[in-house]
Amino acid sequence: MRPPLLHQRCPELAGSLPFLRLGTAPTPVRALPGLDTRAELWIKDESGYGDGGWGGNKVRKLEWLLPEARQRGARTILTVGGLGTNWGLAAARYAREQGLRVALGLIDQPVDEHVRAQLERLRASGATLHLLHTKTRLILAAPWLFVRHTHGRTPPYYLPAGGSSPLGTLGAVETALELAGQVDAGQLPEPAWLVTAVGSGGTAAGLTLGLRLAGLRTRVLGVVVNDTLPLDTPTLLSLARRSTALLRARGADVSGAEPAPDAIRTETAWLGDGYAHPTRASDRALARAAAHAGLALERTYTAKALAALLDLDETGRLDGGPVVFLHTHGPR
Ligand SMILES: Cc1ncc(COP(=O)(O)O)c(C=O)c1O
Repeated sequence: MRPPLLHQRCPELAGSLPFLRLGTAPTPVRALPGLDTRAELWIKDESGYGDGGWGGNKVRKLEWLLPEARQRGARTILTVGGLGTNWGLAAARYAREQGLRVALGLIDQPVDEHVRAQLERLRASGATLHLLHTKTRLILAAPWLFVRHTHGRTPPYYLPAGGSSPLGTLGAVETALELAGQVDAGQLPEPAWLVTAVGSGGTAAGLTLGLRLAGLRTRVLGVVVNDTLPLDTPTLLSLARRSTALLRARGADVSGAEPAPDAIRTETAWLGDGYAHPTRASDRALARAAAHAGLALERTYTAKALAALLDLDETGRLDGGPVVFLHTHGPR
């Protein structure tokens, strides 16, 4: 198995931080001239990451989370999300291959064709689904969910929405270290911005930490697509700090790796009416990406992130670039 770049960067982690490779790295980078942006535009394409090319950025988190769950002796992973959760589906599918069960506490989101199909996939995944409708009911049900999914004396391994715990966040650290390797190899110039959707925050936080560890000056532009969680810049920086503390606790020398306050910029103007509500700008970006760049985006995350990138670029608010768009959606 190809060791993770994080173990190569911090060899002291090899024995203390288990890793399970689930996809083929590095994911490709390429120029995206077809979108006619003012800034030089590139893509790092995570959409094919995962077993059989299935999963995207969620799989990166599971590469750290699943071996940890097994090492802790957990039998069930308990996690939460919306009815169409990509994270929950990826967790269910990859955990099962490791002999772990998944229980999902689900809250409502606007239901369209895609969400209906996703629910069917979740039902078929073998995960136990708890339809709790609202965040309040989910919080009230939490003690019961813990008891319900305790086997013998072993409680479930709880993971927050999107798998964005300090450990899951390391998935995106790996993505950023990979990008830095591709910059070093001359495959692309050092980006000014790395643009990603922010759904639960782990991806943006991990990218920020990874870029810092790699010594790149690239800043993360996080396009917030979820209004059910606090996802402002201080919250994301705090998650990056908690991941840094985790690395330190596992024995890594990460002095000076904490991201600077301006390492992340968050944008909330492309959210529309809320999580999973499509917007005109995201529909336009989705169509433009399909027609001019051959990209298959979806409405909840990647189309909103690209919409923000295109609008900010058009109005000269990306400081000239180069800009890298992180394609996080893995089709199924
Ligand atoms: C396709 C896609 N892109 C981006 C994200 C956002 O990543 P994060 O939850 O780490 O903020 C998600 C989260 O599930 C996703 O499914």
